[in-house]
Amino acid sequence: MPRQSITSLIYVSTARPGLDQDEFLSILGVAERNNQRVGITGLILYNGFNFIQCLEGDRASVNDRLYHIGLDDRHNGLTILSHDDMPSRQFAQWSMAGQYLPIQQGLLQADVAKILSDDAVIEATRRLFESFLSLGAKQSIP
Ligand SMILES: Cc1cc2nc3c(=O)[nH]c(=O)nc-3n(C[C@H](O)[C@H](O)[C@H](O)COP(=O)(O)O)c2cc1C
Repeated sequence: MPRQSITSLIYVSTARPGLDQDEFLSILGVAERNNQRVGITGLILYNGFNFIQCLEGDRASVNDRLYHIGLDDRHNGLTILSHDDMPSRQFAQWSMAGQYLPIQQGLLQADVAKILSDDAVIEATRRLFESFLSLGAKQSIP
């Protein structure tokens, strides 16, 4: 049987000013629904200013979702941090896991820490998500 590789893409972007927790939760709800339909899994964090999101699935589905997400005016400045083929998924149980982690908090919440500590998550991915959160923590120091 041919081995089906998984494309994993991680980007950061800047939210539309004022985008609040409710709007984030609504993005998350739509993302979960759509992603389940097209076989995408991943993780998204929002710190009140920026998003970091990992999308994984077959190459065509990831590219298609990214295209739609890129057109969304609730954020801009989408910058791809990594785009790799992987032997397996890192967030297989999550059609889109997500957390709102306000920058002032600067803490990795237990449930996100748990998701990132799964053996399936590679070191490079863990580092990107952790540094996203620590950048927020540094900014909040007066
Ligand atoms: C930061 C961010 C992340 C998003 N992530 C996803 C996603 O993972 N999957 C998805 O289908 N839509 C995602 N969306 C929403 C899409 O941009 C778009 O609104 C949605 O796919 C349209 O779905 P609909 O045609 O069912 O209304 C995201 C939007 C933003 C702003």
